[in-house]
Amino acid sequence: MAASEESPVRWGVLGAGGIAGKFCTDLVRTPGNVLAAVAARDAGRAADFAARFGAPRSYGSYAELAGDQDCDVVYIATTHPGHREQALLAITAGKAVLIEKPVCLNAADAREVFGAAAAAGVFAMEAMWMRTNPLIRQAQQLVADGAIGALASVRAELGLGRPYDPAHRLYDLANGGGALLDLGIYPVTFGWIFGGPPRSVAVTGTLAGTGSDATVAMQWSYPDGRDAQLWCSAPLAAPFRGLLVGTEGWIRTEGRFYRPTALTVCVAGEESRIEDPLEPGDFGYSPEIAEVARCLRAGLTESPLVPAADTVAILDLLDGARAELGVRYPGE
Ligand SMILES: NC(=O)c1ccc[n+]([C@@H]2O[C@H](COP(=O)([O-])OP(=O)(O)OC[C@H]3O[C@@H](n4cnc5c(N)ncnc54)[C@H](OP(=O)(O)O)[C@@H]3O)[C@@H](O)[C@H]2O)c1
Repeated sequence: MAASEESPVRWGVLGAGGIAGKFCTDLVRTPGNVLAAVAARDAGRAADFAARFGAPRSYGSYAELAGDQDCDVVYIATTHPGHREQALLAITAGKAVLIEKPVCLNAADAREVFGAAAAAGVFAMEAMWMRTNPLIRQAQQLVADGAIGALASVRAELGLGRPYDPAHRLYDLANGGGALLDLGIYPVTFGWIFGGPPRSVAVTGTLAGTGSDATVAMQWSYPDGRDAQLWCSAPLAAPFRGLLVGTEGWIRTEGRFYRPTALTVCVAGEESRIEDPLEPGDFGYSPEIAEVARCLRAGLTESPLVPAADTVAILDLLDGARAELGVRYPGE
């Protein structure tokens, strides 16, 4: 039975790792949604995860989850190199998919996945939760309304401070390692949603011992003189900051810019603060979960908040930055 107003959206979680646990903490308390099943490569770990979150079914293979008839949408929560094949598996079985960021290792694979979803008539979305966050959406509305005048500059940066470890997924190219795909996708998406596609891009960066990108800076330019300065680092620790500078003022995100705890808005020297409307303890995935449920109930095949065309275009930019830095994944 497909999701309707009366029945909750039934989620299957594919991969029982770090992000899956955070997501499910929010999922089980988001009204109108239930965790129906979990799959992991190891049946015992899947069963433990299911017990932790009260899921009625667990599987030791991803194919079994794709074949679960009592599941509406598969959330793909594995490391990036698996996303393409796992998304195609679920789509072929007629399931809607929410795929963790980055949706695929590169734009070509992402085009294939979204093309398959369109051909099958099923919903597909990158789990770029920042775009569903209420404070980010409010900042977009404020900019669109001219609250800070004409937007002149967009800045976003984050440094994870994870020391170099060739075995960690952040540095291991075979497991999709690299700062850009794991971290840089947030500042780049921030630049995109506020500034739009740049006319030109300058990239500088450093590589880790494995050949993965460690620290990357991007400077975007626009024909009207606007700019975006976007930065990410795996090994260096730095605040997760977002700043929008307009001709009449600025907006600063408080807390992590992709999941702000507040916005500070300054117009003509006067600062005001907009507080986070989410419930205390919400990791910030509930707006994304609610948006997927809304789209499924409305019969949409993509979310207007996270359009597939944007996801692919952002991966094109990341492909270009990786090419400049000489970062390639096995098989590319
Ligand atoms: N939206 C967010 O806030 C957010 C935060 C963190 C990460 N992410 C994204 O979520 C994804 C998973 O990140 P994570 O931190 O959760 O990773 P993780 O805990 O290291 O791994 C997640 C799952 O991926 C599978 N996996 C891990 N290493 C693998 C390997 N070498 N070969 C095959 N499968 C492997 C495993 O699935 P099984 O359980 O089936 O074995 C594992 O449980 C990444 O794409 C990341 O970019 C998103």
